[in-house]
Amino acid sequence: MSMRKRLSGRRRALALSGVGALAAGVLVTIPVTAAQAATQCSVNYTTNDWAGGFTASVTIRNLGDALTSWNLGFTFPNSSQRVQQGWSAKWTQSGQNVTAANESYNGAVASGASITLGFNGAYSGSNPKPTSFTLNGVTCNGGTPPTSTPPPPTSTPPPTTTPPPTFPPPSTIPPGQKVDNPFLNAKGYVNPEWKAKAESVAGGSRVSNNPTAVWIDRIAAINGTPDSSSNGAMGVRAHLDEALRQGAQYVQFVIYNLPGRDCSALASNGELGPEELPRYKAEYIDPIAAIQGDSKYANLRIINIVEIDSLPNLVTNTSGNPGGTAMCDTVKANGAYVNGVGYALAKLGAIGNVYNYIDAGHHGWLGWDSNFGPVADQLKAAAVASGSTVNNVHGFITNTANYSALKEPHFKITDSVNGTTVRNTKWVDWNMYVDELSFAQAFRQKLVSVGFNSNIGMLIDTSRNGWGGSARPAGPGPTTGTANEYVDASRVDRRFHTGNWCNQAGAGLGERPKAAPESGIDAYVWVKPPGESDGSSKEIPNNEGKGFDRMCDPTYTGNERNGNNMSGALADAPISGAWFAAQFAQLMQNAYPAL
Ligand code: BGC
Repeated sequence: MSMRKRLSGRRRALALSGVGALAAGVLVTIPVTAAQAATQCSVNYTTNDWAGGFTASVTIRNLGDALTSWNLGFTFPNSSQRVQQGWSAKWTQSGQNVTAANESYNGAVASGASITLGFNGAYSGSNPKPTSFTLNGVTCNGGTPPTSTPPPPTSTPPPTTTPPPTFPPPSTIPPGQKVDNPFLNAKGYVNPEWKAKAESVAGGSRVSNNPTAVWIDRIAAINGTPDSSSNGAMGVRAHLDEALRQGAQYVQFVIYNLPGRDCSALASNGELGPEELPRYKAEYIDPIAAIQGDSKYANLRIINIVEIDSLPNLVTNTSGNPGGTAMCDTVKANGAYVNGVGYALAKLGAIGNVYNYIDAGHHGWLGWDSNFGPVADQLKAAAVASGSTVNNVHGFITNTANYSALKEPHFKITDSVNGTTVRNTKWVDWNMYVDELSFAQAFRQKLVSVGFNSNIGMLIDTSRNGWGGSARPAGPGPTTGTANEYVDASRVDRRFHTGNWCNQAGAGLGERPKAAPESGIDAYVWVKPPGESDGSSKEIPNNEGKGFDRMCDPTYTGNERNGNNMSGALADAPISGAWFAAQFAQLMQNAYPAL
């Protein structure tokens, strides 16, 4: 992968001037009387059924006093109904009676708040819903169907602070319709191959249950590549089957095999030559679409991260730019990237439960006006190529496999020190942004302004942008010296340069995967599986097309694209994608938030 570009003097000057199943629900709300103490609740139980199996989503709304622990009980109407695997609660079943007790982390439920849990189940014949629920032994519905006459009012009026019950939307939607944010209230797929690697390092089990993306980084990865040095053995189907088994609701894949891949760097060059667009379509995208479109997987939200670094490279790394490459010129001229991405979007976006997020670089690459607008236009051009439309684009992702800090808490782009703006420092270098969150939110607006749908959401890859540990500044630097000194003492991103991208020393795990963390952001995600290398620190022969990029060599003194700084890369790294245990240990040590 490659991702780091800065402005030439010319660009800087410019910057200066200028599922296949039935979803049904039942909601019953009856506050218990004052005599029954302060527990009041409503339960919304929905299922998504298929022959013999189902996924249930259960939302408990606390209409009484705050809870510190809870225990939900209900009875299946049929003896064939079984809880197989649940989440967000400890599930047990005895005969037809089911209980779900809180986990250690979700026992507290404020008054008026809701909590959603769920399980995968089995049945034979029919799958009727339970008609009555208890919370801490108190009945939520008393067996009264919602359409029946409400009981007469008791003499005690409900407390005026009790909000009226709202009906949460069902967690599943009819096939063919996409939810606005596929990460919201959904359980992510944990790649067991990554999990095993993470757990092979001491302390790895603290994070190994996080969802990470599965990279489909060559044609052979579609069916699985048992002998590969850098990727797991499981193919796309195997991952989707395992996701069903886990009861996961979303699965993340990376579509990463364009002709002439990684045109501005060497560490992640791929198997297809720049003229091999027909093979990309027929041997790569079509088979992936056939699997993702299998109705067996219609209840999963399948998220595709589309072609890391590709489209920004066409803007910033073609000739005329500092360090522009002949390969980027070739794939720009022959349309391989634009038509390849358009084809992928059209083919995959046509599937009702598939969500496409296109890669959109990061702030240290695109945060200058001279790159920001042109890249938005380039993304739009690809979104409407090869028969695609913007409707095939659910959103964008920034910082994929990069290290840009999510938030720089100790300085802002508008700060000045003794009359010098922080923009005029070596670190910021006239960029308009100092961190990834501010960039992603602004870029979202720009993308809407060039024609993308107004409800697009952004993702930020926070797998390795934590910057915790002992080197993290605790507060802003002194304002008594120069702006450079202030920024260097304030910034949590400890790289030598924002253009450095390979196996960065000092980096830590960033925010754990989280849905809807900030306005405009669908999720923080771990797309680059932490502990997988960005590229080898020396030349290592391999059969994957991976080259040796000196940005991964710790002795390299840099080039014009990283301001002639040291690469900042860790030593002894294997080829990109291969497990790098020492890096994973460092990422855990410097995690922010800390583990
Ligand atoms: C590599 C891929 C790998 C991915 C995830 C990329 O840099 O080129 O082969 O699957 O990283 O680690």
